[in-house]
Amino acid sequence: MEKLAIVDCGGQYTKVIDRKIREAGVYTDILPMGVPAEKLKGYGAMILSGGPASVWESGAPTYDPAIFDLGIPTLGICYGMQMLVDRFGGTVAPEVKTEYGQIEIDIDPSCPLFAGLSPKEKVLMSHGDAVSVIPAGFRTVATTGTVCAGVWNEEKKIVGVQFHPEVDPTVHGVEMLVNFVRGICGFQETYALEDRIETSLRAIREKVGDGKVVVLVSGGVDSAVTAALLLRALKPEQVYGIHIDHGMMRKNESDLICENLKKLGLTQMQRINAEDAFFHTPLVIDGEQYAPLSETCEPEKKRAIIGHMFFLVTEEAAKKLDLDFDTAFLGQGTLRPDLIESGNPDVSGYAKKIKTHHNDVGIIRALRDRGHVVETNWDWHKDEVRQVARMLGLDEEIASRQPFPGPGLGVRILCTDGGKTADPEKAAALAAYRQASDMPYAAALAPVQSVGVQGDHRSYRSLVILSGEGLTPDFDTLYTVAKGIPNELNFVNRVAYLLNRRDLGGTLTSVRSRICREEADLLREADSIVTSEIMRPMNGKCKIAQCFAVLLPASTDGRFSVAIRAVVTNDFMTASSAVPGVDFPSDALANIVRRLEEAALPLDLVLYDVTGKPPATVEWE
Ligand code: XMP
Repeated sequence: MEKLAIVDCGGQYTKVIDRKIREAGVYTDILPMGVPAEKLKGYGAMILSGGPASVWESGAPTYDPAIFDLGIPTLGICYGMQMLVDRFGGTVAPEVKTEYGQIEIDIDPSCPLFAGLSPKEKVLMSHGDAVSVIPAGFRTVATTGTVCAGVWNEEKKIVGVQFHPEVDPTVHGVEMLVNFVRGICGFQETYALEDRIETSLRAIREKVGDGKVVVLVSGGVDSAVTAALLLRALKPEQVYGIHIDHGMMRKNESDLICENLKKLGLTQMQRINAEDAFFHTPLVIDGEQYAPLSETCEPEKKRAIIGHMFFLVTEEAAKKLDLDFDTAFLGQGTLRPDLIESGNPDVSGYAKKIKTHHNDVGIIRALRDRGHVVETNWDWHKDEVRQVARMLGLDEEIASRQPFPGPGLGVRILCTDGGKTADPEKAAALAAYRQASDMPYAAALAPVQSVGVQGDHRSYRSLVILSGEGLTPDFDTLYTVAKGIPNELNFVNRVAYLLNRRDLGGTLTSVRSRICREEADLLREADSIVTSEIMRPMNGKCKIAQCFAVLLPASTDGRFSVAIRAVVTNDFMTASSAVPGVDFPSDALANIVRRLEEAALPLDLVLYDVTGKPPATVEWE
């Protein structure tokens, strides 16, 4: 059989490469970067993935150099290209060019990777290093300005690209991957995707046997698919559903979830109200003492507490059912990206932690190691889970439901101690950049930070607020300006635009905030207004993959502010900020500003997040 090896250098998108190549009908295996060349014999081609390291740093992950002597067609992506350039005698250097986001590049369509494409292509870049000298025998086949973005060695059939053809923002990425497997490797379309449902059902039966499974249902499509698969694979009396309301759910969410689950046939179903336990319990996690959630600021700590509490509450509920996880199993709707972004070593040996998903905290990893976690969606991405949901006959309301993260509003209430203004040196750098780039908007550095993903690394950096035209900016210009800022200022990873007035009208100061009922209630109200406006269909269809409000502890008057986040994406590994009038109705933002004011919520600024992923993430924490 024709097989392609994906050598995983720790990139965030390795599994996306895997899926796209399988969709092109070619069988793939993902192998760790250190794989001996011997093990690659039998593969007709290889792809080297992206990764967070730098080839020039001491301690860069090592690989068997003999993999380049196998004589098989090779595609290096991002770090993978830098690795092969370095190996064949070229040079990779930091700060030649830093690029995050969708960028237009020039390509040479005579290179077979780009056959049939036009000389300018939109691609996704996410890198800090770049190629400064290309190796002998290679020629440059793509450029961003004067910087090399692609190399090709015809004789060896080795091609490298600095951008990511595997993700959706690379508009003709699929064509490039198909060009690689057909045109360069000469592979036929021989691999038909296995019947995923049957494979998953078999795996559940093998693992659980006559045992019992407690499935944590959040109400999203992932856990609904898990519950449905468990009910199909096992007898109904083997499956127990638990829904935990941790006080950080959206408005009316828990009621809706419980109704939907009954429809699924989940008869043994419990709803637990655990707000107090989540907000006020001090914990010891991995030997470290944690203050209660209501006293915690740091995003990763908040995530750890929420993830840990989920398990403790579930364990308690299981006990009441006479179950324990020495004998019973915990069912979760964990997806592949959750594990990649959590830096789970079972999925990717080198991937950096971007954020710990609630279903991959330490206590769950320990249970997983003991073989007591059933994760039916382990190998799937979001769009695949949605397809499976439809194949299983779940309601479209569930199949197309926008995701809601396990920690819920807990990661959308940003926390600070308050009283801070922006760092003056960084604010001056922003002002200088604004002047030098002739930016048509005022730009202010906010004294808050949020999480991003840049060059396969987690970043925790500042927010810039642009203002100038209230509700009527030219969004094309705005997005171009917003993209430039994180590329040029290495302390910024997110940009938002001020909607509810033309200028800030004061100094931005951070406000003390913690997770508590009052702030959750405020966010719930704002979120319900935001969602109801932005999720309205356009021409009968809603293009928004996810939309929500974030409570921002910074303002000019001591109150909170709110940021609107709406994104378009298929797999959530990359995403773009939704464009008003294109992705959602053009009056939505004005309606939100008006309705927030009518509701008299104590909010100062109303912002629209205009950042893609990368450099930001979808959630702010
Ligand atoms: P980010 O913010 O990482 O989000 O770009 C990608 C997708 O994952 C969701 N998300 C989570 N889902 N548990 C979940 O079940 C979590 O801890 C978690 N954190 C982020 C996020 O809402 C988006 O859909």
